[in-house]
Amino acid sequence: MSGRMPLMAGNWKMYFTVGEAVALLEELKGGISRFDDREVVVAPPFTALSAVASALAGSPIRLAAQNCHWESQGAYTGEIAPAMLKDLGCRYVIVGHSERRQYFGETDGSINRKMVALLALEIVPILCVGETLEQRQAGETLRILADQLTGAFEGLKDEEVGRVVLAYEPVWAIGTGHTATPEQAQEAHAFIRDRLADRFNNEVANGIRILYGGSVKPENVDTLMAQPDIDGALVGGASLKSASFVRIVDFVG
Ligand code: PGA
Repeated sequence: MSGRMPLMAGNWKMYFTVGEAVALLEELKGGISRFDDREVVVAPPFTALSAVASALAGSPIRLAAQNCHWESQGAYTGEIAPAMLKDLGCRYVIVGHSERRQYFGETDGSINRKMVALLALEIVPILCVGETLEQRQAGETLRILADQLTGAFEGLKDEEVGRVVLAYEPVWAIGTGHTATPEQAQEAHAFIRDRLADRFNNEVANGIRILYGGSVKPENVDTLMAQPDIDGALVGGASLKSASFVRIVDFVG
């Protein structure tokens, strides 16, 4: 046993009105019963965070936001500061999701600034890394992962890196139905952990949780979670329905 508490997170992306988000949360509260040996997180859109936070009162389910800005305040129209998310009860913020890198121009530099800002406020970044299909086919997967980690962790102390949650999300597996095989995912997770041991130390590398994301479903969660370096899942599509997310949280392993 690794001693790392599995973390099962639902990324609701740009789905749900406030009413819909609260309704799903109520179903999850009724359906999820196993919290003793696993952590459960939901990441609603910004507009539903406040209502979901209220609905979560007394529940062990934890709240995440999907993005943030790096400045603490200022003239940044349309942006949300980390302190505003903390104020709403967000324990986690997803950083560097491939959809943000791909469609909204996020770079390793902006991701690094977000990491610094979140860690300063004791918010846990869920840092996403992963290669595109072209990069995998060109044999560049491990180099891309190494570069993304180097960029995101630039200037951070070992202790700060130790507080981060990582998510390996191959871009070709996100929303496509093509899940990485357990072996492909394990190879990438083990590489990431080795890299952290080299750049930081063994304690950081062995303690950090590395989630897998990309078409996680009830049908594949058990075999993915059986891999020694997979410590949880970041789930998009299958987290939008209570029955499938409850089954994912209840993975057998
Ligand atoms: P998916 O999304 O489960 O729909 O593939 C995963 C993610 O984007 O985090």
